[in-house]
Amino acid sequence: MNLKGRDFLTLLDFTPEEITYLLDLAADLKQKKKNHEPHHLCEGKNVALIFEKTSTRTRCAFEVAASDLGMGSTYLGPTGSQIGVKESIPDTARVLSQMYDAIEYRGFGQEIVEELAKYSDVPVYNGLTNEFHPTQILADMLTIREHFGTLKGIHMVYMGDARYNMGRSLMIGCAKLGLHFTACAPDGYFPDAALTDTCQKIAETTGAVIDFSSDPASAVSDADVIYTDIWVSMGEPEEVWTERINLMKPFQVNSALMAHAKPSCIFMHCLPSYHDHRTEIGKKVGETYGMEALEVTDDVFEGPQSVVFEEAGNRMHTIKAVMAATL
Ligand code: CP
Ligand code: NVA
Repeated sequence: MNLKGRDFLTLLDFTPEEITYLLDLAADLKQKKKNHEPHHLCEGKNVALIFEKTSTRTRCAFEVAASDLGMGSTYLGPTGSQIGVKESIPDTARVLSQMYDAIEYRGFGQEIVEELAKYSDVPVYNGLTNEFHPTQILADMLTIREHFGTLKGIHMVYMGDARYNMGRSLMIGCAKLGLHFTACAPDGYFPDAALTDTCQKIAETTGAVIDFSSDPASAVSDADVIYTDIWVSMGEPEEVWTERINLMKPFQVNSALMAHAKPSCIFMHCLPSYHDHRTEIGKKVGETYGMEALEVTDDVFEGPQSVVFEEAGNRMHTIKAVMAATL
Protein backbone atom coordinates (compact mmCIF):
# COMPACT_ATOMS: atom_id res chain seq x y z
CA MET A 1 0.00 0.00 0.00
CA ASN A 2 1.52 3.32 -1.02
CA LEU A 3 -0.31 6.54 -0.10
CA LYS A 4 2.77 8.79 -0.34
CA GLY A 5 2.00 12.26 -1.70
CA ARG A 6 -1.79 11.78 -1.49
CA ASP A 7 -4.17 14.50 -0.34
CA PHE A 8 -6.77 13.56 2.29
CA LEU A 9 -9.81 15.66 1.39
CA THR A 10 -12.74 13.22 1.60
CA LEU A 11 -13.01 9.46 2.11
CA LEU A 12 -14.69 9.29 -1.33
CA ASP A 13 -11.14 9.48 -2.76
CA PHE A 14 -9.99 6.33 -0.90
CA THR A 15 -10.73 2.65 -1.48
CA PRO A 16 -11.96 0.44 1.38
CA GLU A 17 -8.51 -1.22 1.35
CA GLU A 18 -6.74 2.14 1.68
CA ILE A 19 -9.00 3.21 4.55
CA THR A 20 -8.48 -0.12 6.29
CA TYR A 21 -4.73 0.30 5.85
CA LEU A 22 -4.93 3.71 7.58
CA LEU A 23 -6.92 2.16 10.45
CA ASP A 24 -4.40 -0.68 10.80
CA LEU A 25 -1.51 1.80 10.77
CA ALA A 26 -3.29 3.92 13.41
CA ALA A 27 -3.79 0.85 15.61
CA ASP A 28 -0.10 -0.02 15.24
CA LEU A 29 1.04 3.52 16.05
CA LYS A 30 -1.33 3.60 19.02
CA GLN A 31 0.28 0.44 20.37
CA LYS A 32 3.77 1.88 19.83
CA LYS A 33 2.81 5.02 21.73
CA LYS A 34 1.39 2.91 24.57
CA ASN A 35 4.63 0.89 24.73
CA HIS A 36 6.74 4.09 24.66
CA GLU A 37 8.36 2.90 21.41
CA PRO A 38 9.67 5.88 19.43
CA HIS A 39 8.14 6.24 15.97
CA HIS A 40 9.81 9.22 14.34
CA LEU A 41 8.61 8.19 10.91
CA CYS A 42 8.62 11.75 9.52
CA GLU A 43 11.77 13.11 11.15
CA GLY A 44 12.64 16.62 10.01
CA LYS A 45 9.37 17.26 8.17
CA ASN A 46 6.95 20.11 8.86
CA VAL A 47 3.20 20.59 8.64
CA ALA A 48 1.27 23.89 8.42
CA LEU A 49 -2.03 23.85 10.31
CA ILE A 50 -4.54 26.35 8.94
CA PHE A 51 -7.66 26.82 11.09
CA GLU A 52 -10.26 29.30 9.82
CA LYS A 53 -12.67 27.85 12.42
CA THR A 54 -11.88 27.02 16.05
CA SER A 55 -10.77 23.56 17.22
CA THR A 56 -9.61 21.63 20.26
CA ARG A 57 -9.34 17.99 19.12
CA THR A 58 -8.22 18.38 15.52
CA ARG A 59 -5.58 20.97 16.29
CA CYS A 60 -4.19 19.08 19.29
CA ALA A 61 -4.30 15.78 17.40
CA PHE A 62 -2.23 17.24 14.54
CA GLU A 63 0.25 18.91 16.88
CA VAL A 64 0.80 15.87 19.12
CA ALA A 65 0.89 13.49 16.15
CA ALA A 66 3.45 15.70 14.39
CA SER A 67 5.61 15.84 17.51
CA ASP A 68 5.44 12.03 17.98
CA LEU A 69 6.47 11.55 14.32
CA GLY A 70 9.50 13.82 14.75
CA MET A 71 7.90 16.66 12.78
CA GLY A 72 7.50 20.36 13.37
CA SER A 73 4.15 22.13 13.08
CA THR A 74 2.97 25.73 12.72
CA TYR A 75 -0.54 26.77 13.79
CA LEU A 76 -2.21 29.51 11.72
CA GLY A 77 -5.42 30.53 13.49
CA PRO A 78 -8.58 32.24 12.23
CA THR A 79 -6.83 35.61 12.63
CA GLY A 80 -3.23 36.74 12.35
CA SER A 81 -2.20 35.34 8.95
CA GLN A 82 -2.67 36.87 5.50
CA ILE A 83 -4.90 34.01 4.32
CA GLY A 84 -8.09 35.13 2.63
CA VAL A 85 -7.67 38.77 3.66
CA LYS A 86 -4.50 39.81 1.84
CA GLU A 87 -3.50 36.55 0.13
CA SER A 88 -5.52 34.19 -2.02
CA ILE A 89 -5.71 30.43 -1.48
CA PRO A 90 -3.63 29.66 -4.63
CA ASP A 91 -0.88 32.05 -3.48
CA THR A 92 -0.97 30.66 0.08
CA ALA A 93 -0.72 27.11 -1.29
CA ARG A 94 2.35 27.91 -3.33
CA VAL A 95 4.06 29.83 -0.51
CA LEU A 96 3.46 27.11 2.09
CA SER A 97 4.57 24.38 -0.36
CA GLN A 98 8.01 26.02 -0.38
CA MET A 99 8.40 25.60 3.37
CA TYR A 100 6.23 22.69 4.48
CA ASP A 101 5.90 19.00 3.65
CA ALA A 102 2.11 19.00 4.26
CA ILE A 103 -0.75 21.42 4.91
CA GLU A 104 -3.85 20.87 7.04
CA TYR A 105 -6.87 23.10 6.40
CA ARG A 106 -10.06 23.63 8.45
CA GLY A 107 -12.56 26.07 7.08
CA PHE A 108 -15.81 26.64 5.27
CA GLY A 109 -16.55 25.32 1.77
CA GLN A 110 -14.98 22.10 0.50
CA GLU A 111 -14.03 23.98 -2.67
CA ILE A 112 -11.49 25.98 -0.62
CA VAL A 113 -9.54 22.94 0.58
CA GLU A 114 -9.76 21.54 -2.95
CA GLU A 115 -8.30 24.74 -4.39
CA LEU A 116 -5.55 24.64 -1.76
CA ALA A 117 -4.74 21.07 -2.81
CA LYS A 118 -4.79 21.96 -6.48
CA TYR A 119 -2.13 24.65 -6.04
CA SER A 120 -0.01 22.82 -3.41
CA ASP A 121 2.94 20.60 -4.21
CA VAL A 122 2.54 18.81 -0.88
CA PRO A 123 -0.27 16.67 0.62
CA VAL A 124 -3.26 18.65 1.90
CA TYR A 125 -5.44 17.30 4.73
CA ASN A 126 -9.05 18.32 5.34
CA GLY A 127 -9.39 19.16 9.04
CA LEU A 128 -13.16 19.85 8.58
CA THR A 129 -15.20 21.72 6.03
CA ASN A 130 -18.94 22.34 5.94
CA GLU A 131 -19.31 19.25 3.73
CA PHE A 132 -16.78 16.73 5.08
CA HIS A 133 -14.81 15.77 8.20
CA PRO A 134 -12.78 12.76 7.04
CA THR A 135 -10.18 12.59 9.83
CA GLN A 136 -13.05 12.34 12.35
CA ILE A 137 -14.46 9.32 10.52
CA LEU A 138 -11.15 7.45 10.76
CA ALA A 139 -11.19 7.96 14.54
CA ASP A 140 -14.82 6.85 14.73
CA MET A 141 -14.18 3.70 12.72
CA LEU A 142 -11.11 2.81 14.80
CA THR A 143 -13.20 3.26 17.96
CA ILE A 144 -16.00 1.02 16.64
CA ARG A 145 -13.53 -1.62 15.48
CA GLU A 146 -11.79 -1.61 18.87
CA HIS A 147 -15.14 -1.97 20.62
CA PHE A 148 -16.84 -4.62 18.47
CA GLY A 149 -13.79 -6.25 16.83
CA THR A 150 -15.29 -5.66 13.38
CA LEU A 151 -16.88 -2.99 11.20
CA LYS A 152 -18.78 -5.13 8.68
CA GLY A 153 -22.47 -5.24 9.46
CA ILE A 154 -22.31 -2.90 12.46
CA HIS A 155 -25.48 -0.80 12.54
CA MET A 156 -24.88 2.92 13.13
CA VAL A 157 -27.82 5.26 13.56
CA TYR A 158 -26.97 8.91 13.13
CA MET A 159 -29.49 11.16 14.91
CA GLY A 160 -30.01 14.81 14.05
CA ASP A 161 -28.91 17.10 11.23
CA ALA A 162 -27.58 14.63 8.67
CA ARG A 163 -27.07 17.22 5.91
CA TYR A 164 -23.85 18.61 7.34
CA ASN A 165 -20.24 17.40 7.53
CA MET A 166 -20.74 14.64 10.12
CA GLY A 167 -23.87 13.01 8.71
CA ARG A 168 -22.45 13.08 5.19
CA SER A 169 -19.00 11.82 6.13
CA LEU A 170 -20.31 9.01 8.34
CA MET A 171 -22.53 7.86 5.48
CA ILE A 172 -19.46 7.70 3.21
CA GLY A 173 -17.36 5.90 5.83
CA CYS A 174 -20.09 3.35 6.48
CA ALA A 175 -20.62 2.79 2.74
CA LYS A 176 -16.90 2.24 2.17
CA LEU A 177 -16.39 -0.11 5.11
CA GLY A 178 -19.57 -2.19 4.89
CA LEU A 179 -21.56 -0.92 7.87
CA HIS A 180 -25.33 -0.39 8.04
CA PHE A 181 -25.91 3.37 8.20
CA THR A 182 -29.26 4.87 9.12
CA ALA A 183 -29.71 8.62 9.00
CA CYS A 184 -32.51 9.46 11.42
CA ALA A 185 -33.57 13.07 10.85
CA PRO A 186 -36.55 15.29 10.19
CA ASP A 187 -37.62 15.76 6.58
CA GLY A 188 -35.18 17.95 4.69
CA TYR A 189 -32.26 17.15 7.00
CA PHE A 190 -30.89 14.10 5.14
CA PRO A 191 -27.70 14.06 3.04
CA ASP A 192 -28.29 15.37 -0.49
CA ALA A 193 -29.50 13.06 -3.25
CA ALA A 194 -26.27 13.11 -5.29
CA LEU A 195 -24.09 12.02 -2.35
CA THR A 196 -26.67 9.46 -1.27
CA ASP A 197 -26.70 8.00 -4.76
CA THR A 198 -22.89 7.80 -4.80
CA CYS A 199 -22.89 6.06 -1.41
CA GLN A 200 -25.64 3.61 -2.45
CA LYS A 201 -23.45 2.62 -5.42
CA ILE A 202 -20.43 2.13 -3.16
CA ALA A 203 -22.63 0.12 -0.76
CA GLU A 204 -23.52 -2.32 -3.56
CA THR A 205 -19.83 -3.25 -3.77
CA THR A 206 -19.08 -3.44 -0.04
CA GLY A 207 -22.23 -5.00 1.43
CA ALA A 208 -23.10 -1.80 3.27
CA VAL A 209 -26.72 -0.79 3.83
CA ILE A 210 -27.84 2.83 3.80
CA ASP A 211 -31.32 3.85 4.84
CA PHE A 212 -33.31 6.74 6.25
CA SER A 213 -35.86 7.21 8.98
CA SER A 214 -37.70 9.97 10.78
CA ASP A 215 -38.83 7.70 13.62
CA PRO A 216 -36.11 7.62 16.33
CA ALA A 217 -37.49 4.76 18.44
CA SER A 218 -37.87 2.30 15.57
CA ALA A 219 -34.64 3.44 13.84
CA VAL A 220 -32.50 2.50 16.85
CA SER A 221 -34.21 -0.81 17.69
CA ASP A 222 -31.34 -2.81 16.17
CA ALA A 223 -28.54 -0.21 16.56
CA ASP A 224 -25.01 -1.05 17.68
CA VAL A 225 -23.98 2.62 17.62
CA ILE A 226 -26.06 5.74 18.18
CA TYR A 227 -24.18 8.79 16.95
CA THR A 228 -25.08 12.45 17.20
CA ASP A 229 -23.56 15.88 16.62
CA ILE A 230 -24.46 19.43 17.65
CA TRP A 231 -27.61 20.79 16.01
CA VAL A 232 -26.07 24.05 14.78
CA SER A 233 -22.62 23.77 13.25
CA MET A 234 -19.72 26.20 13.08
CA GLY A 235 -20.35 28.80 10.41
CA GLU A 236 -24.16 28.67 10.71
CA PRO A 237 -25.90 31.86 11.89
CA GLU A 238 -27.22 32.01 15.47
CA GLU A 239 -30.72 32.75 14.15
CA VAL A 240 -31.22 29.14 13.04
CA TRP A 241 -31.35 27.90 16.66
CA THR A 242 -35.11 28.46 17.13
CA GLU A 243 -36.11 26.53 14.03
CA ARG A 244 -33.46 23.86 14.65
CA ILE A 245 -34.41 23.23 18.30
CA ASN A 246 -38.04 22.67 17.41
CA LEU A 247 -37.16 20.35 14.55
CA MET A 248 -34.44 18.39 16.35
CA LYS A 249 -35.99 18.01 19.80
CA PRO A 250 -37.58 14.63 18.97
CA PHE A 251 -34.16 13.41 17.80
CA GLN A 252 -32.36 14.10 21.09
CA VAL A 253 -30.35 11.13 22.34
CA ASN A 254 -31.66 10.47 25.86
CA SER A 255 -32.04 7.43 28.11
CA ALA A 256 -35.54 6.69 26.73
CA LEU A 257 -34.07 6.44 23.24
CA MET A 258 -31.09 4.36 24.40
CA ALA A 259 -33.58 1.96 26.03
CA HIS A 260 -35.03 1.23 22.58
CA ALA A 261 -31.60 0.01 21.36
CA LYS A 262 -29.73 -3.18 22.24
CA PRO A 263 -28.09 -3.14 25.70
CA SER A 264 -24.74 -3.51 23.90
CA CYS A 265 -25.31 -0.30 21.90
CA ILE A 266 -22.66 2.41 22.34
CA PHE A 267 -23.06 6.19 22.20
CA MET A 268 -20.70 8.26 20.04
CA HIS A 269 -20.30 12.00 19.36
CA CYS A 270 -17.57 13.85 17.48
CA LEU A 271 -17.62 16.56 20.22
CA PRO A 272 -17.84 19.29 21.36
CA SER A 273 -21.28 18.61 22.87
CA TYR A 274 -24.02 20.57 24.59
CA HIS A 275 -24.95 17.90 27.14
CA ASP A 276 -25.29 20.34 30.07
CA HIS A 277 -25.15 24.04 30.91
CA ARG A 278 -21.40 24.12 31.51
CA THR A 279 -20.68 25.89 28.21
CA GLU A 280 -21.58 29.40 27.14
CA ILE A 281 -23.75 28.26 24.23
CA GLY A 282 -25.20 25.21 26.01
CA LYS A 283 -26.31 27.45 28.91
CA LYS A 284 -27.66 30.26 26.77
CA VAL A 285 -29.59 28.05 24.34
CA GLY A 286 -30.64 25.64 27.10
CA GLU A 287 -32.07 28.44 29.26
CA THR A 288 -33.78 30.12 26.31
CA TYR A 289 -35.59 26.94 25.28
CA GLY A 290 -35.96 25.37 28.73
CA MET A 291 -33.74 22.35 28.02
CA GLU A 292 -31.21 20.81 30.42
CA ALA A 293 -29.28 19.48 27.43
CA LEU A 294 -29.51 19.71 23.67
CA GLU A 295 -28.50 16.90 21.28
CA VAL A 296 -27.68 14.41 24.07
CA THR A 297 -28.67 14.33 27.73
CA ASP A 298 -26.01 14.36 30.41
CA ASP A 299 -26.89 10.89 31.74
CA VAL A 300 -26.25 9.30 28.32
CA PHE A 301 -23.12 11.36 27.68
CA GLU A 302 -21.66 10.38 31.07
CA GLY A 303 -23.20 6.90 31.11
CA PRO A 304 -21.60 3.48 30.63
CA GLN A 305 -22.56 3.22 26.95
CA SER A 306 -20.70 6.41 26.03
CA VAL A 307 -17.30 6.01 24.35
CA VAL A 308 -16.86 9.69 23.46
CA PHE A 309 -13.52 10.21 25.18
CA GLU A 310 -11.85 7.10 23.70
CA GLU A 311 -13.22 8.34 20.37
CA ALA A 312 -11.62 11.77 20.93
CA GLY A 313 -8.28 10.14 21.82
CA ASN A 314 -8.37 8.16 18.60
CA ARG A 315 -8.33 11.43 16.64
CA MET A 316 -4.60 11.66 17.40
CA HIS A 317 -3.69 8.09 16.42
CA THR A 318 -5.63 8.23 13.15
CA ILE A 319 -4.35 11.68 12.14
CA LYS A 320 -0.86 10.38 12.87
CA ALA A 321 -1.52 7.49 10.50
CA VAL A 322 -2.65 9.88 7.74
CA MET A 323 0.57 11.92 8.03
CA ALA A 324 2.82 8.86 8.34
CA ALA A 325 1.22 7.23 5.30
CA THR A 326 1.23 10.25 3.03
CA LEU A 327 4.66 11.69 3.87
N1 CP B 1 -14.42 16.75 16.64
C1 CP B 1 -13.69 17.83 16.31
O1 CP B 1 -13.31 18.05 15.15
O2 CP B 1 -13.38 18.62 17.36
P1 CP B 1 -12.66 20.05 17.28
O3 CP B 1 -13.65 21.00 16.64
O4 CP B 1 -12.35 20.40 18.70
O5 CP B 1 -11.42 19.90 16.45
N1 NVA C 1 -20.88 19.62 12.67
C1 NVA C 1 -19.90 20.19 13.57
C2 NVA C 1 -18.77 19.23 13.77
C3 NVA C 1 -17.74 19.67 14.78
C4 NVA C 1 -16.62 18.71 14.92
C5 NVA C 1 -19.44 21.52 13.03
O1 NVA C 1 -19.15 21.62 11.84
O2 NVA C 1 -19.38 22.48 13.81
